[in-house]
Amino acid sequence: MDMQPPPFAAATATPAPAPALPIYRRLAEHYLSAIQSGTLAPGDRMPSVRDLMRQHHVSLSTALQTLRHLEEGGWLEARPRSGYFVRQPRRAAIRPVGEPNVLAPLDPAQYVGIHEQVSDFIARRQLQAPAIDLSGMSCAPELYAVEALKNAAIRALREQPSLLTSPMPINGNVTFRQVVARRALNAGIRIGADDVVVTHGCIEALNLALRAVAQAGDTIAVESPTYFGLLQTLESLGMRALEIPTSPQTGISIEALELAIQTYGNIKAVVVVPTLQNPLGCIMPDSHKERLVALCERCAVPLIEDDAYSELADGDVAPSAAKVWDRSGNVIYCASLNKVLAPGMRLGWMTSGKWHERVKMLKFAYTRANEEWTQITAANYMGSPAYDRHLRRLRGNLKEQREQMAEAIAGYFPSETRLSVPDGGVGLWVELPRGLSSKAVFAAALDQGIGVSPGVIFSNSDRFDHYLRLCCGKPFTHELDQALRKLGGIVERLPG
Ligand SMILES: Cc1ncc(COP(=O)(O)O)c(C=O)c1O
Repeated sequence: MDMQPPPFAAATATPAPAPALPIYRRLAEHYLSAIQSGTLAPGDRMPSVRDLMRQHHVSLSTALQTLRHLEEGGWLEARPRSGYFVRQPRRAAIRPVGEPNVLAPLDPAQYVGIHEQVSDFIARRQLQAPAIDLSGMSCAPELYAVEALKNAAIRALREQPSLLTSPMPINGNVTFRQVVARRALNAGIRIGADDVVVTHGCIEALNLALRAVAQAGDTIAVESPTYFGLLQTLESLGMRALEIPTSPQTGISIEALELAIQTYGNIKAVVVVPTLQNPLGCIMPDSHKERLVALCERCAVPLIEDDAYSELADGDVAPSAAKVWDRSGNVIYCASLNKVLAPGMRLGWMTSGKWHERVKMLKFAYTRANEEWTQITAANYMGSPAYDRHLRRLRGNLKEQREQMAEAIAGYFPSETRLSVPDGGVGLWVELPRGLSSKAVFAAALDQGIGVSPGVIFSNSDRFDHYLRLCCGKPFTHELDQALRKLGGIVERLPG
């Protein structure tokens, strides 16, 4: 069937792409959303180069670039002398990762050992420095607004040269806190600048939150699998992680959590990542967030919400934070700008409900205030419309990279591999076939210059040893494609 798309500028179900993208990318996104929504189905013929030029008033090279870009992304195939056709994405054939057994007995609260295990993987990766590193969770530096941030930093120092030599405001720069409070409205959180404590990334916020509500020897309920940094933090604080089954689709099982709270009686806090959970990538439905907040409130267990990723969710409307349903100050909300604004500035923040004064005291006692020039730089940039443009561009790039990587995994990994492609973020969670050990894949991949995160570090048990987490924060290049081909070969050949 010959498709006659609407003019490029016509309103579509999806919001207009960021204007800063080159025209061919915007045109490609226009057709990509038609493919993803099913308006253009597999087997449909794409408009010809000539049609594209006429309908969208673009040049020959833009029309060609658009089609090639979609072809490289695996969305189109060129048929000799017939033109371009929509392809059946290979990843459509790959099954999503499995659901956990929520009825299985929970592990006894254990905590010793993960620190050594994580440090060992990090040390081995540093020693061999892989040429293609898919193990982190940050975006390639070029995806951030390098030039604009540099200018904002220069302006901050030019206007206030004494910034580097003066003492810093204890709870953070007030303009930065105002900007943060204003932006928190996007996630549905209504707070003032005085409710914000600025931190060194989300990890410091989590540390402060845990210290505010619990102490060494206490048990903390966490998702399973969970971010290995949280397991390290708990271990370093002498606290015990109780892992609660977590669905790759809907997040922590509220039934299993309720049962655990009733059974164990000594759970001092619950830590969750409701949006774009690491490593699963799932987004908890709003109804679950509401039930989770209500459960923690009813049982008088503080809820620590880790929201490091929600600004990277696809689309222009950020998912609501669980904090939105907090009526009593029982939710401590921790956020980060490291993934969205600039990993090099190590800025995070938190708003701590009932524990606000205690958190302020702990922040002062443990680390003192953050550097002020980073906060002023961030406030300069985040307070301008350029920040929203940057976020739209970043989300668009990540979505495209994620889909290209998923397509490559579907093509190169054995067919029994399972993968769920999340609606945002920088990670892909891959279930290996034949119960293959992620430790073996990690070692073999590193020998071939590829870094991956083995599933085993996301739990205190071995339960996730047959998973890998792969980062899709880097542009999809030929080298990356070839690395995924090699990785698929390793997974194919290793004995299960
Ligand atoms: C879920 C989660 N929480 C917290 C952090 C730490 O964030 P930051 O780098 O802002 O300290 C990370 C980092 O990867 C993460 O994935």
